Amino acid sequence: MTDEGRKKGADPSPLPSGDLPKGVVRLQKLIAGTGLASRRKAEALIAAGRVMVNGKTVTELGTKVDPGRDHVKVDGKHLSAAQPFVYLMLNKPKNVVSTLDDPGGRTTVKDYLRGVSVRVFPVGRLDFDSEGLMLLTNHGELAQAMLHPRYHVPKTYLIKVKGVLTDDEIRSLEQGVRLEDGMTGAAQVRKIRKVEANSWLEITIREGRKHQVKRMLEAVGHPVIKLLRIRMGSLTLGDLQPGEFRFLTDREANTLRRLVEERVASVEESPAPKFERRPQRREGWARPKEAKSQRRRGSWSSTRKRA
Ligand code: URA
Repeated sequence: MTDEGRKKGADPSPLPSGDLPKGVVRLQKLIAGTGLASRRKAEALIAAGRVMVNGKTVTELGTKVDPGRDHVKVDGKHLSAAQPFVYLMLNKPKNVVSTLDDPGGRTTVKDYLRGVSVRVFPVGRLDFDSEGLMLLTNHGELAQAMLHPRYHVPKTYLIKVKGVLTDDEIRSLEQGVRLEDGMTGAAQVRKIRKVEANSWLEITIREGRKHQVKRMLEAVGHPVIKLLRIRMGSLTLGDLQPGEFRFLTDREANTLRRLVEERVASVEESPAPKFERRPQRREGWARPKEAKSQRRRGSWSSTRKRA
């Protein structure tokens, strides 16, 4: 990353817009530029003899390389293969498509990711008229495991429904309701509050069928009026506003990775697989403001505001 890239308001993504710096650069700068290590750590890697240029170990810190021509390996791995994982959460607003492209020309989540130069993909969908937490990442293995119904990663929705559910209706949602594609699995439902003739509920499901929450509520006679996803696995939307995104903190990404690893292990009855870990973003980056305020205020502030 260039010094320019560290300035407030500059591209907050962990990679430069191109893949590698253009022209001749110092080796440690090139390594740091991929996000693999900080500049200082890159120097330590070089000094330790862990870096090869065109098949030869290089230990001299001032070594200049041309990323367009020279082949650089760190610990035997080609540098360009070591792109960092990127994880970000977006609060998808209503009336936005949750894919990266829309053949009909509607606004997509991609339109909200200005300045993100790494190609990230949405982990799952939210309906056009739904809002809330979307995870986007280039970590394909993690995304697949999060979406696989077998691993039961929980997703929590805050919903406004027509009318007020009886305890029996809540129980049947929790035990499973019959939809045209079969019974739903166990769910958790929590009453939040009544608003005139309608009510807010929180529902946690561990599947991801199309329009599942809306269909479940329809099945017990209380159509959904509003739907907001507030949690996915260990991630919490917090007070991220509709249309805003932020990168996950290291701690959030590590916790999520661990949770998914454990879910996979518990289903496969084998030791937890270890997802590949790569540097998440360059060191020296300021933590986004939203992340700080999210931790301070806790996860229910947005719920209370809306209810
Ligand atoms: N369930 C739904 O019905 N819609 C969504 O957008 C997400 C879950």
